[in-house]
Amino acid sequence: MNNPTAGSPNARQRRRLLLATGTVGGVGLVGTMLPFVASMAPSDAARSRGAPVEADLDSVAPGALVTVAWHGKPVWILHRTRAMLDGLGKHDSLLADPLSREEQQPAYARNATRSLRPDFLLAIGLCTHLGCVPTYRPEVGAADLGDDWPGGFFCPCHGSKFDLAGRVFRNVPAPLNLEIPPYAYQGETRLVVGQDRSGPA
Ligand code: FES
Repeated sequence: MNNPTAGSPNARQRRRLLLATGTVGGVGLVGTMLPFVASMAPSDAARSRGAPVEADLDSVAPGALVTVAWHGKPVWILHRTRAMLDGLGKHDSLLADPLSREEQQPAYARNATRSLRPDFLLAIGLCTHLGCVPTYRPEVGAADLGDDWPGGFFCPCHGSKFDLAGRVFRNVPAPLNLEIPPYAYQGETRLVVGQDRSGPA
């Protein structure tokens, strides 16, 4: 039987949305969820040209991380909880660039949370060492990462660590914080990756 809603604007809009989802309990899932679900709009050809990509935040639960593709790269969208945000200011001494002095983000993301809105982090999910995809490790004090682990991202390739704002730890191979892509909000729950306030990146 034909699906009467398959070609409706709502159905088309839904197909633009989010891809792989990790949760607080889904440790290490992100790295294994790539490559991406193929149904996301715009087309593969447009995406390879770097067209902006829309994402709907409605379905991203607190603590969850989803991945969308932009410029052929994984872009993480992490919905940070209040506890995650509260923890960000407590481990600056462990970080190589806690104030984001290096040019790894748009000017509007050079702040304490490295984001336009504190509750959502966007970051390109590629390690700044050699480009592996780090795993999402939000568990504070994880046994394999140390008592002082504040939650963040761990790169299994050579052991680099990043916090929940994508800031790199000291004394790891990765030299820089994770890159923050250009992005903008369109209303409360929709954002566009690859387009900042001045237009397409
Ligand atoms: S690629 Fe991530 S630590 Fe080397």
